Formats: sequence, structure tokens, C-alpha cells
Amino acid sequence: MKQLDTDIVDKVNALRKALHRHNHLYYVLDNPEVSDAEYDRMMLELTALEEAWPKLYAADSPTSRVGAPPLSEFETIAHSIPMLSLGNAFADSDIIDFDRRVRKILRTDDEILYTVEPKLDGLAVELVYEKGKLIVASTRGDGINGEVITANVRTIRSAPLLLQDTGKRNIPLRLEVRGEVFISHEGFRSLNEEQLSQKLPPFANPRNAAAGSLRQLDSSITAKRPLEIFFYGVGEFTDLKLKSHWETLQALQELGLRINPLITPEVTIEEAVDCCKELEDKRHLLPYDIDGMVIKVDNLSLQTKLATTSRSPRWAIAYKFKAMQETTRVLNIDVQVGRTGVLTPVAHLQPVNVGGAMVRRATLHNEDEIERKDIRIGDTVLVQRAGDVIPEVVKVIESKRTGAERIFHMPLNCPVCGSTVIRAKGETATRCINSTCLAQLKERIKHFSSKGAFDIDGLGDKLVEQLVDKGMLASYADIFHLDAVKIEGLERMGARSAEKLVLAIEKSKKIKFSRFLYALGIRHVGEHVAKILAEEFKSLDNLLDATKEQIEAVEGMGFVIAESVVNFFKQNTNREVINRIFDSNVCILFHAHEKERTLENKVFVLTGTLEDLTRDQAKEMIEAAGGKVSGSVSRNTDYLVAGSSTGSKLKMAKDLGVEIIDKAAFLKILSR
Ligand code: IVH
Repeated sequence: MKQLDTDIVDKVNALRKALHRHNHLYYVLDNPEVSDAEYDRMMLELTALEEAWPKLYAADSPTSRVGAPPLSEFETIAHSIPMLSLGNAFADSDIIDFDRRVRKILRTDDEILYTVEPKLDGLAVELVYEKGKLIVASTRGDGINGEVITANVRTIRSAPLLLQDTGKRNIPLRLEVRGEVFISHEGFRSLNEEQLSQKLPPFANPRNAAAGSLRQLDSSITAKRPLEIFFYGVGEFTDLKLKSHWETLQALQELGLRINPLITPEVTIEEAVDCCKELEDKRHLLPYDIDGMVIKVDNLSLQTKLATTSRSPRWAIAYKFKAMQETTRVLNIDVQVGRTGVLTPVAHLQPVNVGGAMVRRATLHNEDEIERKDIRIGDTVLVQRAGDVIPEVVKVIESKRTGAERIFHMPLNCPVCGSTVIRAKGETATRCINSTCLAQLKERIKHFSSKGAFDIDGLGDKLVEQLVDKGMLASYADIFHLDAVKIEGLERMGARSAEKLVLAIEKSKKIKFSRFLYALGIRHVGEHVAKILAEEFKSLDNLLDATKEQIEAVEGMGFVIAESVVNFFKQNTNREVINRIFDSNVCILFHAHEKERTLENKVFVLTGTLEDLTRDQAKEMIEAAGGKVSGSVSRNTDYLVAGSSTGSKLKMAKDLGVEIIDKAAFLKILSR
């Protein structure tokens, strides 16, 4: 038998230690030190050693997140301290009343300090660590008893198998921590894509997806789901000497347990109200769903004095955001024709206020979606608004059916041009393939003049429709042949606005290659793909000559994109339109990207207004110099560019020690 020598034991231990540390840096601190490839290499090396030396098996090895055998049912376990729920506040006055109640019970007129946290919309879990090792994890269950889901929780990368010894805290003998398991928007999108590609039904929302994933008897399925966790509290624990809730959260963070970066510690009740409002306004900017905020009395001895009722603590309250879902009726269903000829069924709804905005229409995506959700004209439905996206129908309230509802059928002809529509095998989209269809033309022109493309100020949707209907635009190339005299005669157009538009068109003629490519409206070529193609091929001539294979060989491109690009340029009509564009002195700026990339890999976040500099312009400047722009501040952020009137991002940046710069400093960095 092979002899297990100390070198191998040392090597395995060193790899485990390093991998635990890199996990922590990556998943908890969001600040990796090594590349993914380097991490994978270490993981492979450790796996190989462990396979060669089964004696070295350890349940807390970074390799053993997956692999537990499937269960036939979940065991239950009693929580040492019940996992309660929270009382609700729906208005500012409910929050103020809560503070009044707190002070009444405590018999004090002194100001109470609160910690305010986002209320994630996921599932509550409890993890128990003994001597720093994760030994059991359970669901909230009925609050008294939960189901044991240890194998599933072990697959969640942001849930450490071992507490981190950062030297700041002693590892407690026992620690029960509580947190919320959730799936981000991004994770939800890719998970549903995966479901659909396997012909499985998609999940209705991230919460359902998280719940379904966490309650799998086979943890190898859970391991494939993009679950994440934020910790927000503790049950029983030893050794930690804690005085406040905020201190508790910091202790958790120091032990390697991820806490939400948007927590606001130690504020007055008025400030707490402001925090709630601020995040309610910005909730759509977050990468995950939150359904409210939790306001907690910060001081732990005051929490003890306030105690709990049988259902919820008296020291905390949940401020619930306005619902983003409402029920309403489908009055009718009609069909819109998009830029690429895709027919999208749209529901006309009985107008309803959803989370502060009136919703009149909702997209039904495609024929399969309507069939899957069985949506009929006349149905009462649940509609949902999520962030900035178009409202959609979540489901039909079947109990409200009267029998008078009508089933919708996709038209056999394009509702705009009347030509026969086609649904290709294996595709969900029904298309009008008449490339001269006016609906498509209108959408193509709108796209051409939109922000990320030629960005023609004043050429709005309504005007494009008029111009097409009047026969003044038969392709986007015609935009450059419009003259002020003709435009002046149109509805709601004066001499001044006509002149302004002509100037804007003139100005748009100098355009970056990537924007030009995006503007053409080639299928599958969005802003991102256009940028990659522009950077790779440098000139239009190069791209016109490129073969499918050459395009496919570019990182980030695939067969579908390559085929679409080549087909587009192969068509004579498209070549003619492009030639016509150049006839009117459109000039592509090919060199913008070849500028020195002084900001390579630097991450910027923009906040507030930067006077005359728009966000899009700032973004473009950063990207041209090789930098990146992110929507939210994290430890990875290099600079926060703060204009006037700024909010939570500024605060976050300060909390995280991110460098904050104003417009002048920003321009200076760019010119370096
Ligand atoms: S504190 C005893 N903090 O909301 C205090 N809960 O109704 C109990 N939740 O089941 C919870 N984010 O799953 C707390 N930052 C947060 C939370 C949070 C989400 C959930 C939790 C609980 C429910 C309370």
C-alpha cells in the first residue's frame, strides 16, 4: 500500500486552508485575489489528492459541498430559540407608532437608535456552527421546528462550511445564525433559461425558485441552483460578547458570514423612515428582490426588556413596500410587430395601480407562454411589475372564471402588412417575414435613432411613425436625406424644431463603429456584441469580409451570432442601405477604441448628476479607456463618481472606503 507521507497531508491542509480563504474573499467579501482559473486549478489538485488518499476525507473540505446521497424525507429539528415572524408597517405613521410603543414599554422619552435592513424576499434558515464547523442547517418551518436541510445549505457558496478566523474574533464554541436564502435576478433568469431548455416549466419568481431549490431531497439538484445567502441575526451562541444588533452583524461579517451591504446602522426613527423610503424608490436597482425593510432596536439589553409576543418580537418591525403585483382583468389581447418581425401578444388590462404606477398593458411574450399560463380574454389575472421591465401576467386566477372567457389565437397574417406569418420549428417566436412590413420598418428606424445607436435627438417614436406613414422614410438611410422644409409640414412640428432635428441628424453622422453596428439592427447583435465585434474587426470592411468561422472564433460570440451577422451582410438590400448611409457623409470613427486603455479593469459607479455630462457619455468615456461601469457600489468598486444630489451609493462608498471623486477629478483621471 502507498504510504501517506506528511508532505501530502501538509499539501492537502494548505490547499484546504487557501481554498477556504479564497471562497471567503470571493463569495463573502466580493473581492477575489486569484483568477477563476487559478482557483479551479487548486480545487482540481485538492480533489485529485483526496481521491488518491480517501483516508484524508473531511466533511468540511472545500471539495465536499456536493455529494450527499438523496434523502427520502427531511428530518425535523427544534430551534433552540423560536424563529419568529415580524409585525408589519405599511405607512410612515405605522413606523412612528412602533417607536412610540417601544418607548412606552421602556418608559422612556429618550431617543432610541435603530438598525435598518433590507428585507429580502427569500426563505429564512438557521445554520449551526460548532467550533467553527457547520454542523446543521434547517428551515424556519413553523418557527418552533424546522426541516433539516444541511446537505442543501452546504451547496450554497456564500454559506461557509467553516467560520473564518480573521483574528478579530474568537471562534465561538456554538453559534446559531439566521439568514435569508434567495436567488438574484440574474440567477433567476439563467435558471429559467436552463429550465426551458430542458423542457421543464419555468419558475414564477425568484422566491419560488429559491424555495423549490432549497427543499430538494437530492442535494445534487440544489447544487445546480444559484442560491445565495445573507445573514441577519443569531439564535443561541456562546463566547461572543455583544451589546448591539449592529455589533452582532459586524461579528458575523468578521466570522466570514455575509451580511447585506445596504444595512444602515444606528439611526433615529425619522432617519429610519427616510432609509425605508429611499430604498423603496431604488428597489428596482438592486440585483435581487426585497419586499420591505426591517427596523430593529439596536441595543440588545433594550431588546431583552422589550421581549417578544408569541408571534413576533416587540423590538422589530417590517416596513412592507407597496405590492408590485395586483389583480386585474384582461380586456383584450392584440399583437405587436417588432423590429425583427416577431409578433408579440400584448394584454390590454383594466388599468390598475401596481406599486405606484398605472399599468394598462402587459406583455404575454409568445404563443407558448399564453398556452402554458392558459391566459384567456376576459380572465382575471395577477400582473407584476419588476423593476423597469415591461409588466407581465404572472398567472390566471382560475376561481374567477365565468365561462365567458375567450381563447386567443395567434393571427395567421401580420396585423400590419397582411402577409402570412411563420413559426419556425423549435422556435417560440412567430414572425412576419416581409422585410418591407411597415411595422418592422418603424421599429427598425426607432432602433436606429435610439440612444445606444445614432442617438438622434428629437427623432422620437411618434415622429418616426408619421414619417413612415407619409412615405418620407422607407429605410433608415432615408433619415439622412430628410430636409427641414419637408419636416416642417408635419404635425406638431414648427420651423425651429425641424431645424433642430436636421442639426441633430447632422451631428449624429460622426459615429463610433460599435454604435453603427448596433444601429443596423442585426439579429442577436445588441450593444454588448456590437462592442466586441467592433473591437475585434476594427473596420466595417473587415467585418463584411469575415466568415462565420472567423466570427465564431471570437470570444463571447457563438454560432447563432456569427450566422446572423454573415446573413445580414450577404443580403443585397442591406448592402444597398449601408451604401446609401455612406452616400450622405456618415463617418465611422474607427479609432475611438484604440485609444490607450488607461482605465483597464477599473470599476466605476456613477451617482447623482454630473451637470452637462450625461451618464451615458460618462459611461462611454470610461469604457473607451478600458474601464467598467457598475450599477452598485461594492468592495470591488474603484471609484464612485459623485455628482450633486446623491443618496445611498455615496453612503455605501463611504462605508466601504471606496474612493469618491467629483466630476473634475473624474475628467482628470480620464485624461491621464
Ligand atoms: S429579522 C425575530 N431581518 O422576514 C426577527 N428578517 O417576517 C425575525 N427577513 O421569516 C426576522 N430579511 O425570513 C429579519 N433583515 C432581515 C430579514 C428578515 C428577510 C424575513 C425572514 C423572516 C421574515 C419575518
